[in-house]
Amino acid sequence: MVEEKQKKGLCSLFGFLYLKVLNEDPLDFQIVDINDRFLFMVGENQEIVGKRKNELNSALINKVAEMIQSGKTDAKVFSDSTVYDIKIFNNKNGLSVYFFEDIYKPEYGGIVPKLMIDNGFLDWAVRYDDPRYYPISIGLLDINGLKNINDRYGYEQGDKIINKTAQIIRSNLNSNTIATRLGGNGFAIMVFQTSENEILSLLFEIKRQFEMAFEKYDLSLSTGFAIKNDKSLNMTKLFNKAEDNMYFNKLLQKGSVRRRTLDAIIDIFSLKCPREAKHSRRVSALCKRFAIELDLEKEKIDSLTVTSLMHDIGKVGVKDYILNKPSALDEEEWAIIKKHPDMGGKILSSIKEFQDMAEIVRQHHERWDGTGYPNGLKGNEIIFEARIIALADAYDSMR
Ligand SMILES: [Fe+2]
Ligand SMILES: [Fe+2]
Repeated sequence: MVEEKQKKGLCSLFGFLYLKVLNEDPLDFQIVDINDRFLFMVGENQEIVGKRKNELNSALINKVAEMIQSGKTDAKVFSDSTVYDIKIFNNKNGLSVYFFEDIYKPEYGGIVPKLMIDNGFLDWAVRYDDPRYYPISIGLLDINGLKNINDRYGYEQGDKIINKTAQIIRSNLNSNTIATRLGGNGFAIMVFQTSENEILSLLFEIKRQFEMAFEKYDLSLSTGFAIKNDKSLNMTKLFNKAEDNMYFNKLLQKGSVRRRTLDAIIDIFSLKCPREAKHSRRVSALCKRFAIELDLEKEKIDSLTVTSLMHDIGKVGVKDYILNKPSALDEEEWAIIKKHPDMGGKILSSIKEFQDMAEIVRQHHERWDGTGYPNGLKGNEIIFEARIIALADAYDSMR
């Protein structure tokens, strides 16, 4: 959790206004601290610290006084096209007041959350790569299916969805979280002094609310994140890692059918052949690393990661005693095992969402010199991805 003494700094960081007051006299309290963001808003020449409420004529400060008097800790105030969400926290030496800003846009039906940074997220993030805020996490969110909404209902509807999504994200921010729109249909959040659980549950909650809000539309929200504990991973790499994670999740999410089907297949596979399922996960991880080394495009990396996860799926059709036989297989048993690439291809091609993987899986035991199976293909006749899987597969079997 964020220490009280760091809250002022974090508020500045997130672009929130911060104020600390003594509460000995609710009708005319004294201001003891403000952050630079607050000073910027009221005008940098103003002396505010040390002044009493009655000496200042500020709508925001008057509102704070009103809240203190009525015992409220939460209120909204509208001033200069901005909606301030004011929250008051009691602490040992007085009261801390946070002002979260939103923008008022009647054309969007009211309040639009002002995401703290409008652009240049990464430039901005780099400046706060500071051990004081570790572990830092970047979370990414991307709306899928918005193009269809724009085509069908017009851009206005699409914009409303983006704004509603921003509102959902905004309502889940706390004092150690910041969010921004990334352009397109994407958003980024950055959480300071966090844990993997915290960022995961934050993304999960946003996703849940998103799904509830847009139940009637064919929309989904892809999310991904990465977390760092030290300087070794710079912000750009952290961002890329979060992006990789999101693209991978996105791939699995393409239409919930794909995701559900994939989950179901992997569940069955893990139950029936736990050893094979573990091997597949290792091969998938190897293929991913290999694909990254080969500098393949992101999409290729992701599809190879999933395809390699499924490469031995045809083994679900092989009898358990053969799969688990500790001694050498006889000729007949080998013949059965050798059917698994073809069987895998058949399983995958029968599912619309996985057809693109079928041929790759069918070829994962072909060999460059033509001695592989099932078709004895040679060299470049074998699909590139199938060759990578074959290498990873052989490597994992030898370890
Ligand atoms: Fe295999
Ligand atoms: Fe394999």
